[in-house]
Amino acid sequence: MCGIFAYLNYNVDRERRYILQVLFNGLRRLEYRGYDSAGIAIDDSSAKCNSNSNSTPPPLVFRQEGNIESLVKSVYKEVEETEVNLEDRFGTHAGIAHTRWATHGEPAPRNSHPQTSGPGNEFLVVHNGVITNYEVLKETLLRHGYTFESETDTEVIPKLAKFVYDKANEAAGEVVTFSQVVLEVMRHLEGAYALIFKSLHYPNELIACKRGSPLLLGVKELTENKDSSSAFEDNKFLSKDGKPKELFLSSDANAVVEHTKKVLVIEDGEVVHLKDGGVSILKFENDKGEHRASLSRAFSVRRALSVLEMEVEQINKGHYEHYMQKEIHEQPESLTTTMRGRLIRRGSNISKSVLLGGLKDHLKTIRRSRRIVFIGCGTSYNAALAARPILEELSGVPVTMEIASDLLDREGPIYREDTAIFVSQSGETADTLLALQYALDNGALCVGITNTVGSAIARNTHCGVHINAGAEIGVASTKAYTSQIVVMVMLALAIGGDTISYQARREAIIDGLFDLPNKVREVLKLDQEMKDLAKQLIAEQSLLVFGRGYNYATALEGALKVKEVALMHSEGILAGEMKHGPLALVDENLPIVVVATRDACFSKQQSVIQQLHARKGRLIVMCSKGDASSVRPNENCRVIEVPQVEDCLQPVINVVPLQLLAYHLTVLRGYNVDQPRNLAKSVTTQ
Ligand code: UD1
Ligand code: M6R
Repeated sequence: MCGIFAYLNYNVDRERRYILQVLFNGLRRLEYRGYDSAGIAIDDSSAKCNSNSNSTPPPLVFRQEGNIESLVKSVYKEVEETEVNLEDRFGTHAGIAHTRWATHGEPAPRNSHPQTSGPGNEFLVVHNGVITNYEVLKETLLRHGYTFESETDTEVIPKLAKFVYDKANEAAGEVVTFSQVVLEVMRHLEGAYALIFKSLHYPNELIACKRGSPLLLGVKELTENKDSSSAFEDNKFLSKDGKPKELFLSSDANAVVEHTKKVLVIEDGEVVHLKDGGVSILKFENDKGEHRASLSRAFSVRRALSVLEMEVEQINKGHYEHYMQKEIHEQPESLTTTMRGRLIRRGSNISKSVLLGGLKDHLKTIRRSRRIVFIGCGTSYNAALAARPILEELSGVPVTMEIASDLLDREGPIYREDTAIFVSQSGETADTLLALQYALDNGALCVGITNTVGSAIARNTHCGVHINAGAEIGVASTKAYTSQIVVMVMLALAIGGDTISYQARREAIIDGLFDLPNKVREVLKLDQEMKDLAKQLIAEQSLLVFGRGYNYATALEGALKVKEVALMHSEGILAGEMKHGPLALVDENLPIVVVATRDACFSKQQSVIQQLHARKGRLIVMCSKGDASSVRPNENCRVIEVPQVEDCLQPVINVVPLQLLAYHLTVLRGYNVDQPRNLAKSVTTQ
């Protein structure tokens, strides 16, 4: 939900045109996080050589409903119509930007960010997250004469900053620093947020702070500095030596990696101040995240930069038209990366095993747990559901499933003897994070399975596994799903240990894992066939997907993909439930996909096909290669033949044709593939 970005060039001449381009590109990289409105703030021309706030003109703010390109167009149009010159040069300049996924207030310029303290733009804020106590703050500010123009929760923040600034100046008559203002503002905020502040009173400075939502700082030095990758010295990074540098703040690494790989992942409770080419960090003592009462004094902290392990190519579409298409087709490679270094096979009939570095010290505890609880949302939940049977089989530990929001709604029981496994591509989904906090409070061992190194879930779990699928940008999760399943199958193998009775089974699965990328390559050849099927289904209103056993998850996930991007009603149904309701829907018009690949449920699925056929169901059957004639009830029934693999890996294969179907349906129906209506990549609000 929402992406925030900032660009500060220090002692390096940049044209306004260039600054705008950097800000717009940053937003384009973050657009998948939210895309219903956007905005930026930059300096007015006369600010460039004047740091005296009394005579500095207010920053320029541009806000627009719609996607980033609508903002870009409107900014250039506005610039043309005014005296703002794109060739103006700034030796030092601080710009901020935002792309929004509306939570409070409809998409409209007044609700877009930057939100402002009022006329004069004394304080400007871009925000990702939610301020839960904004109504109380708003009432207080209204009583002090502030007026509000938006319906957002964010607007209280710049207004509170102005209030704090004015009060401090009135009372002390002395200069209050930008960090002091923000620290005071932060003390009053509740909820989850990442914020960037820009102020008329502190030209060429920026402040970033966060609690809950992700934020990182990227550092690019424009002259070689051998010591630069070291820790912050005396709480100042890059001493104020006047050397040129560029600093970036961003909700995620995608917007930073094309500029620099040196980053600092900002932690909860930290206030990062960019000023005069230096960076200083203040942190609240005892910051627990959710209780502002626990905030007390702030102290300076030293932090080291880390190096991003991602490549720019990962965030480009390459020769593909859409990210979703690229991410579907790169699954052979993403699965290979997921397994790299984790599967061990020595010699043809010697030992085969799994090594998950992040879990090896915790396996004993997990094996001894009374129960394993999978917790996630959406696709991540489905991936866990696909892995549940093999985990039960190999570990012998009961495995239960929890949708994160439902666990929280019920305050369902979680015990000290439980292992709770949190599955999340982004590692920042609000419901999953809150469920994690709940499980931690209840004393369970908390394990994370996430794609995002440094994410809140990766940091706050006791241990875990990174799925290493590479950046996933399409809002519809595809390659993360298959990598999550593979990680959870490896997890089952690791927890299962090396009991003799399961040796043959384990080795077959490991062999299957080694061969899986090839099999995915094979199933991807169905692309054209799925496009043809999509053409047949283009005008349908609804699609059902029946699965069971390992492929109940495939049914849910296939249906989720279709509904999410192709905007077609679609339902995944547990085939065992067919006669308990869904059968009433069956007629000769409604298309129904039945997943009937070879596994222990095969004969039951054959019977489901017969029963649906008897009711004149319009069937599309997915079966193992070579089974077409035995599953097809008549010539009109369409068959999708897929390669057969070990039963627990079959969901990885079976979901691919459904991903392709959802993709082609979306393109043919003329909808936005990568940014489906009303959705955002990471759902950081409840
Ligand atoms: C790690 C390194 C990898 C290196 C490999 C070889 C990282 C991120 N990974 O991979 O670059 O090639 O060793 O030695 O540096 N964790 C959680 N919660 C999560 C996910 C992970 O606590 O949700 C923890 C793990 O318990 C572990 C650490 O993060 O301590 C790294 O996890 P992971 O990347 O999966 O470990 P390796 O595969 O060993
Ligand atoms: O980042 P997470 O895996 O925690 O996200 C969970 C869901 O929001 C996510 O999987 C969502 O269902 C996707 N858009 C599905 O494609």
